[in-house]
Amino acid sequence: MKRIVILISGRGSNMQAIVEAGLPVAAVVSNRADAAGLEYAVGRGIATAVVEHRNYATREAFDAALAQVVDGFRPDLLVLAGFMRILSDDFVERYQGRLLNIHPSLLPAFPGLNTHARALAAGVKLHGCTVHFVTAELDHGPIVMQAAVPVHPRDHEADLAARVLAQEHRIYPQAVRWFVEDQLVIDNGVVHVKGDYPQQLYVP
Ligand code: GRF
Repeated sequence: MKRIVILISGRGSNMQAIVEAGLPVAAVVSNRADAAGLEYAVGRGIATAVVEHRNYATREAFDAALAQVVDGFRPDLLVLAGFMRILSDDFVERYQGRLLNIHPSLLPAFPGLNTHARALAAGVKLHGCTVHFVTAELDHGPIVMQAAVPVHPRDHEADLAARVLAQEHRIYPQAVRWFVEDQLVIDNGVVHVKGDYPQQLYVP
């Protein structure tokens, strides 16, 4: 059985969706002791650990400590689920090809923060979320799956965030399952799924 380690910083609703999909989550690690998602993981009998970024002088020192804790759980796959720290190149390199992230936009549009507000300001008519392999460039990397949702004329940021989040909870477990079942193939930076399962959702 493959072992998944999930990194969170807060609420952990994506982590919860992955656990509830019955995927083999070995541990949940947070950079904040007050991350709400930790409580859920403990309640489910999942191992947890906290590596407080505030206790480390540099990003490199924090990432080294984090990698040590993560490696202790012997992950085949590392899943970033609302993990709000930028990872150093060394860290990304160490887990290359087995490090996934979910980002709340249709990448390559709107990398970075405040994606829903930026999507509204840009007047896009479709928005969504992306599961991708992590590479050194922030919010880039081979795309595993995307879900698109409409942007309605009177949407506020919170409406859009909720509409997208519901789809995050669908595509992240799916992408993780494909990885765990060795279904993903990366060819020249493009991810394919063995069996040609659809790698996109559109939810009108
Ligand atoms: C999600 O919107 C995710 O796409 C982004 O941060 C948020 C985390 O939410 N990276 P949760 O902690 O999974 O509930």
